[in-house]
Amino acid sequence: MLLVTGGAGFIGANFVLSTLAETGEPIVNLDKLTYAGNLRSLASIAADARHTFVRGDIADRPLVARLLAEHRPRAIVHFAAESHVDRSIHGPAEFIRTNVVGTFCLLEEARAYWEKLPGAERDAFRFLHVSTDEVYGSLGPDDPPFRETTPYAPNSPYAASKAGADHMVRAYHHTYGLPTLTTNCSNNYGPLQFPEKLIPLMIARALADEPLPVYGDGQNVRDWLYVLDHCRAVRTVLERGRPGETYNIGGGAERRNIDVVREICALLDEARPRRTGPYSALIRFVADRPGHDRRYAMDAGKIRRELGWTPAETFESGLAKTVRWYLDNQAWVNEVTSGAYRDWIERNYAKRGAA
Ligand code: NAD
Ligand code: DAU
Repeated sequence: MLLVTGGAGFIGANFVLSTLAETGEPIVNLDKLTYAGNLRSLASIAADARHTFVRGDIADRPLVARLLAEHRPRAIVHFAAESHVDRSIHGPAEFIRTNVVGTFCLLEEARAYWEKLPGAERDAFRFLHVSTDEVYGSLGPDDPPFRETTPYAPNSPYAASKAGADHMVRAYHHTYGLPTLTTNCSNNYGPLQFPEKLIPLMIARALADEPLPVYGDGQNVRDWLYVLDHCRAVRTVLERGRPGETYNIGGGAERRNIDVVREICALLDEARPRRTGPYSALIRFVADRPGHDRRYAMDAGKIRRELGWTPAETFESGLAKTVRWYLDNQAWVNEVTSGAYRDWIERNYAKRGAA
């Protein structure tokens, strides 16, 4: 049994669905259902007895303690976070509360639980913390990709909050011996991503015939990782990673933002031609993100050499699948963005309290 946090978000939901399909291991899924969490993403397992959904906050220590005592998971896989850089610029407080304080609360309860486990269970227990390449800062055009040993230099409030969490995880291993694993991954993309992030935002806006806002000069580079490759990497680290270690995960697919947007436009031109001309006519360069990191790139050599993981998707194959998924799942997009679904969840859960 795994305790997954943030399993109604983009990567967490993909992890829950793919883990149930591939290993069948039961999962308790603790998620606060912020604007970014959607039970609709988990609709296909709504009646699956192996999945227990609990609406709650990782910073609610009594709730976390109760879940650990009741379900006795062999591992915690920690995805829950505030994850959007632009939102962290507008309002950093929630990022500190969830990403730093929330992770601390989880670590404290994990430690208390782990310390009381009997021998074999104690040895097998893992706390896997999912982090980001953004903790390493920004690369110049000719710099080598980030390695696990690259010094931390976070630039946005989001990145700083994730760096804070990473340091706490490291300290809990070093000081208390908690068997932690940290994964730092690059930009994920794929099905079920909330349309505030670059790729789903561009697809949704193009289909609505709205301008496609590219920040600054569009030359910023990200290293794109297909979400199911990432989920497989997390499972690999969980099974075979060495406690106390960190593992960088990347797609080996560096692309400039403007090229990503043009590629999306080209795929849509083919799949659903626009009546008034190519989708690329909608591209607009807009004011840059403050402190916008220029380039991220991951050296995934350690996880490849030590654990044998490599991505299965190329950026081209992954993007084609992603565009197809959004075309086929317009109802999901409309529901998660309209607010109607959130209103329904509010009504449904308001009188129930924490599960
Ligand atoms: P997301 O924003 O789509 O989902 C986050 C989930 O966490 C949501 O379901 C939300 O309801 C839940 N959550 C937020 N605060 C919570 C709290 N206090 N208690 C319980 N649940 C809470 O995020 P994502 O893109 O799926 O990212 C998942 C993890 O991966 C995050 O830790 C993020 O920092 C990391 N990451 C993401 C990317 C990426 O490209 N998306 C890349 C690198 C690392
Ligand atoms: O690198 C890993 C990180 O990737 C994760 O830790 C974050 O959780 C995740 O949100 C993502 O951060 P980015 O800031 O890189 O992702 P985003 O999709 O917001 O932006 C990708 C690039 O596209 C970035 O250079 C900003 C640019 N952009 C983004 C948006 C939303 C635009 O040009 N226009 C936009 O409208």
